[in-house]
Amino acid sequence: RSKVTIHTIKKLYSDGKPIAMMTAYDYPTAVACERAGVDVVLVGDSLAMVALGHDDTSQVTLDEMMHHSRAVARGTRSAFMVSDLPFGTYHADEAAAVTSAIRMVKEGRAEAVKLEAGRRAAARIDAIVHGAGIPVMGHIGLTPQTAVALGGFRVQGKSVSSAQALLDDALALHAQALLDDALALQSAGCFSLVLEAMPSLVAETITRLLGIPTIGIGAGRRTSGQVLVYSDMMGIFDRFTPKFCRRFAEVGSTMDEALGEYKEAVRGRMFPEEGTHTYAMSPAAEESWR
Ligand code: KIV
Ligand code: NA
Repeated sequence: RSKVTIHTIKKLYSDGKPIAMMTAYDYPTAVACERAGVDVVLVGDSLAMVALGHDDTSQVTLDEMMHHSRAVARGTRSAFMVSDLPFGTYHADEAAAVTSAIRMVKEGRAEAVKLEAGRRAAARIDAIVHGAGIPVMGHIGLTPQTAVALGGFRVQGKSVSSAQALLDDALALHAQALLDDALALQSAGCFSLVLEAMPSLVAETITRLLGIPTIGIGAGRRTSGQVLVYSDMMGIFDRFTPKFCRRFAEVGSTMDEALGEYKEAVRGRMFPEEGTHTYAMSPAAEESWR
């Protein structure tokens, strides 16, 4: 497969072919995405929760994101690679946003960065895109970083489960504000937008009014593409599966079974098996050893 570029993504969009984006956090998940022919690989800051065990995404640092981003880059051949700028690394001002984006490209080996931000970040996004020449994917809706800012996952005390309550609030929310955000992010130079957790009709309307591809998660079927969190769709992350996630596999229970069998095999001296998993000496060497 030839390299997926921004141009390829634009072509998929103009041909009306849905874009498949998937998160990846390390070399093996990147290789799996590559083998499946996923168009865009996203090193999401969901990393904080699904791979690092944090209660929300606000804890992860730029250095930690870059460490995983480099691992994903090693496994990514043809997919287009986007990495999240985590909470606090692009908020201060345009200079901070540009510095973080440049680090994510140079040290994290990402081809583009993604920011959770609405119209208030337009100037910072413009600086990254037109100042530094780094492609930016926007991300709006009920985003995890917003949830933190609103006193979300952690502060409400019920960790991830309060995401559902926040989601319910979000469903009552201002479609017009989301549309304004989307248009402002497009004007600021975003090449694509993630639309997260919003009524399908709102996502459909935004998609229709924009001239750049939208990638939906919990945003219905009419976006220009879809993204899911790898660990959620694989059935690995068992703390919380959002309503919008389809579990395409139950890898977590397969892992549990294998580990249980391993432990029992060790305890019962059923593993390793003589001959199959063991090294033998030549008869002559064995003779002299005895
Ligand atoms: O961090 C992440 O995994 C994301 C996707 C849900 C879009 O931002
Ligand atoms: Na994210």
